[in-house]
Amino acid sequence: MTIKSVAHKLIDKVISSGRMDLIADFASPFPAIVTATMLGVPVEDHRQLGAWVIDLAEVLGNFQHHPDRMSQIVQSLRDFKKYVSARIEEERRKPTNGLIYALMTSQVDGHYLTDEEIIVNTIITLIGGHETTTNLIASGFLTLLRNPESFEQLRGHPEIVASAVEELLRFESPVQHTARIAPADSQLGGKTISKGSRVVVGLAAANRDPNRFRDPDRLDLLRSDNRHLAFGWGTHFCFGAPVARMEGQIAFSALLRRLSRPALLEPKVRWRDNAGLRGLSALNISFDPGLPYPESGDSIDGT
Ligand code: HEM
Repeated sequence: MTIKSVAHKLIDKVISSGRMDLIADFASPFPAIVTATMLGVPVEDHRQLGAWVIDLAEVLGNFQHHPDRMSQIVQSLRDFKKYVSARIEEERRKPTNGLIYALMTSQVDGHYLTDEEIIVNTIITLIGGHETTTNLIASGFLTLLRNPESFEQLRGHPEIVASAVEELLRFESPVQHTARIAPADSQLGGKTISKGSRVVVGLAAANRDPNRFRDPDRLDLLRSDNRHLAFGWGTHFCFGAPVARMEGQIAFSALLRRLSRPALLEPKVRWRDNAGLRGLSALNISFDPGLPYPESGDSIDGT
């Protein structure tokens, strides 16, 4: 199975119907299948993993709390931990070449990671690898639909897809903010930030900073000097950025090739109630079949 074949198989399933929910039918399962495969867990578990990820993303990305959802979210975390624990046992019995096994067998300064460390790293990779990439693809596709000239530009020149993905990451950032605790007193923008202060960094705002990006509210798929902050910066820079970029490029190339004349089925789109991880709850579109995928013979399970 290749990442490309995952994308095309998902499109194969809806191509004859002429309509799809781009999130449920493509943007959500696509990274879920890729991440499950990368970790070495059964691909058919991707729907359950996706449901846990959505629950946990609600806490991670949100300042506005949902006390009524808390018990469900805590239960999801418990179930998720139990699942990864069982996978570790399974890897001990029958190792795969996935990332969980790599975490189990790697050493840091001569020490192996504890099961707890393997569990939290697996969970953060699943959360990081799923929700954000779903939102890059779906919000990016909506952005292209709202900017038909850019849509046609990318369709006519698929070779610019890498630059297009960078601009879509800047323009409609899947991770809107992150947070830090100031390690020392410091000055920023004429303000003093005291040691120990909790600081929220608006990555999406920085990505539209007119002092950094010329004409920042304009989508320019060929923008040069596009060093955006969509994957963060410094020590905690996104560990999965190369995979996310590859998935984004494959997804947009596949969607623009296979779907002709895509259009929104509902004029008003619904955004999820999550201030940090910005994404749509659904994206219903119609389309005509476009060009075929000549190598769609591979099979993938669990979709
Ligand atoms: C479009 C997709 C993605 C976006 C926009 C994104 C964004 C980010 C951002 C902004 C951070 C830094 C958070 C901070 O500094 O506080 C981060 C960290 C992280 N990301 Fe991603 N990410 C994406 C995809 C992925 C993928 C595919 C994976 C894994 C397969 C992943 C795994 C992680 C992990 C493990 C971290 C924590 C790194 C650390 O703390 O050292 N991400 N991501």
